[in-house]
Amino acid sequence: MSARLGIIGFGTVGQGFLEVLIKKGADLPVKLVGIAGRSKGEIFIDEGIDPAEALRCVAEGKNLNECFKDALRLPSLELVRKGNLDILIEATPTNLETAEPAFTYIKEALKSGIDVITANKGPVALHYSELKNLGGILRFEATVMSGTPVLGFIEDNLKGVEILGFRGILNGTTNFILTEMSGGRTYEEALKEAQRRGYAESDPTADVEGFDALAKILILVNVFMGKALSPTDVKREGITSLPATTGDFKWKLVATAIKKESGVEVSVKPERIYPDDPLYYVDGTENALLIKTDILGTIMLKGPGAGRLETGFAIFLDLLKVLKEREKI
Ligand code: HSE
Repeated sequence: MSARLGIIGFGTVGQGFLEVLIKKGADLPVKLVGIAGRSKGEIFIDEGIDPAEALRCVAEGKNLNECFKDALRLPSLELVRKGNLDILIEATPTNLETAEPAFTYIKEALKSGIDVITANKGPVALHYSELKNLGGILRFEATVMSGTPVLGFIEDNLKGVEILGFRGILNGTTNFILTEMSGGRTYEEALKEAQRRGYAESDPTADVEGFDALAKILILVNVFMGKALSPTDVKREGITSLPATTGDFKWKLVATAIKKESGVEVSVKPERIYPDDPLYYVDGTENALLIKTDILGTIMLKGPGAGRLETGFAIFLDLLKVLKEREKI
């Protein structure tokens, strides 16, 4: 029998996931029954929604309820409660202060035995220790380095290996800005260019003040270093007051976690990076992560950290894992 899917949040990420599902998952035993979003409408069709039709509808600038006139309307929480879902794809925007409303959707789903795949950093960064014990599978590959499957890599390939620390560039927007600045642009010019290309939001605070990178390093630490740290445990500094680079180094916004006798020390801050450091060669919107281990030395992963299809693909990977765990494939 097909797994019944519901999607909450139908912006770039939710749509990117459907696009990947159509391209790569045509034969999967899944049936999309509900989509609920803040601005794109809310539709529920028990017999199944055609994903291509839903994408076409929003691409034409329409609301889903205009295109699927006979569909029932189930707003987000109702979709979780009444949709008879097997899997919830939660793709609403990240809120790093309260993690809401995503935290409520995810909690409600997991408590009802619905498996959850989320791209939302808030609930995982702030509430992982609570969420992991609620029943149901919770997967969140898209939250860190999006299309570069770093969480799955560690989970699948580093079993039994002790992680001694992480060090990386986990925010693409700031890395783009800093790369532009190393070419001589000022911060303001580089930010404008990042906004023009659609990397930075009109309010860029979450990226440029380091909150996004903080959430990602917290997720890595809390999931793989057995800690339950919160944002206030992290020393954080943004990039807004850095000068344009001159000299033989580049500024990078570096997220670091180091295992110490006393616990794990975590920080996000701009650092001068020189050519003998592998992070020197990570430019533009790319991300990279160095994973320091007890028996393998240091492993480095580098790749895309954002993007519609990249993030959609991370959700797709999680979907494959959930289906496998539930013995559907
Ligand atoms: N705003 C993030 C970045 C992408 O620039 O890396 C989503 O995590």
